[in-house]
Amino acid sequence: MKIQQNISLKEYNTFGIAANAKRFISVSSVYELQQLLKTEKEVFLLSGGSNMLLTKDIDMLVVHLNITGVSIDTEDDKHVYLTVNAGEDWHEFVLWCIANDYGGIENLSLIPGNVGTCPIQNIGAYGVEVKDTITKVEGLEVATGKLVSFSNEDCKFGYRNSIFKNTHKGKIVLTSVGFKLTKKDHQLNTSYGAIKTELASRKVIKPTLKDVSDAVIAIRKSKLPDPKEIGNSGSFFKNPVISKKQFLEIQKVHANMPNYIVSENEIKIPAGWLVEQSGFKGKRFGDAGVHEKQALVLVNFGNASGQDILELAKKIQITVFSKFQISLEIEVNIV
Ligand code: EPU
Repeated sequence: MKIQQNISLKEYNTFGIAANAKRFISVSSVYELQQLLKTEKEVFLLSGGSNMLLTKDIDMLVVHLNITGVSIDTEDDKHVYLTVNAGEDWHEFVLWCIANDYGGIENLSLIPGNVGTCPIQNIGAYGVEVKDTITKVEGLEVATGKLVSFSNEDCKFGYRNSIFKNTHKGKIVLTSVGFKLTKKDHQLNTSYGAIKTELASRKVIKPTLKDVSDAVIAIRKSKLPDPKEIGNSGSFFKNPVISKKQFLEIQKVHANMPNYIVSENEIKIPAGWLVEQSGFKGKRFGDAGVHEKQALVLVNFGNASGQDILELAKKIQITVFSKFQISLEIEVNIV
């Protein structure tokens, strides 16, 4: 364990933003992290760096969480219970589960980031949210270094949300996540239109976990930029929820606006559609831009700063608001 000085964080965030850490340390065990928290009171936690936009250099000590390892706690006929350390790469973990025929997270294939951050924003894709497989989340209290454990209920999961984004933001370092996955009678979720189409085009009739995962990987690759090639953080905005009254007003002008019913009086509108209708899809402003195939994803073509991306996001928010009177909320953590 050694603190390094003036380290560029470009390789540590999927947006590829070249902000600097004044001091940087990588920890590979809970014990190391506990020791560190005894002496350092203000730390900046960095895991997979897949859901953040760095808009400035970091003065605090940047702690890179590199605690890895997967263990099987217990299993019965139908289920396996796993504890996965925070530093494991999410997609590698999904592939490992599929290779072992453990079901439940196959729809979440190819999502960038580490296991330790999946509960924070309750990652979700193609009709599945990670909260449905999480049994517990463990971590350390930043202030005391004390071990803490949260049940699924304690986490208060919601759409792209949990207590780790709200009341507990910055207060807990997540060190491991517990999962309950199926060993047989897998509950495949293939209702999402794009998955159905992809499986049909592959002539798959009775899909396996791997078939679903392969379909999701193909869909994501066709729509979403690979952060290794073009910097990005996935969906930059949340899909907004509007009132039914407002929805009906907008629909008079935009009859084909995609929408999902949330409740009797609430309708969710895809932010990607709003951004596209506002003329931003595929637009580039210097090295900051909007992805050409999915307008919900802002991209860094190489040397954009966090401020460049944020300015573009603000421009989009203003345009969408003036056209639709809908406020787009940023999903990515702005640092
Ligand atoms: N749409 C457009 N233009 C676009 C993009 C989308 O008109 O440029 C329309 C599509 O035609 C479709 C609708 O918007 O009717 C929904 O698009 P899509 O299926 O791509 O899903 P999304 O709502 O835009 C969400 C998640 C993604 C996740 C997909 C698939 C959020 C904020 N985003 O996107 O998550 O992969 O569903 O389930 O909920 C992420 O969080 O990083 C992420 C990529």
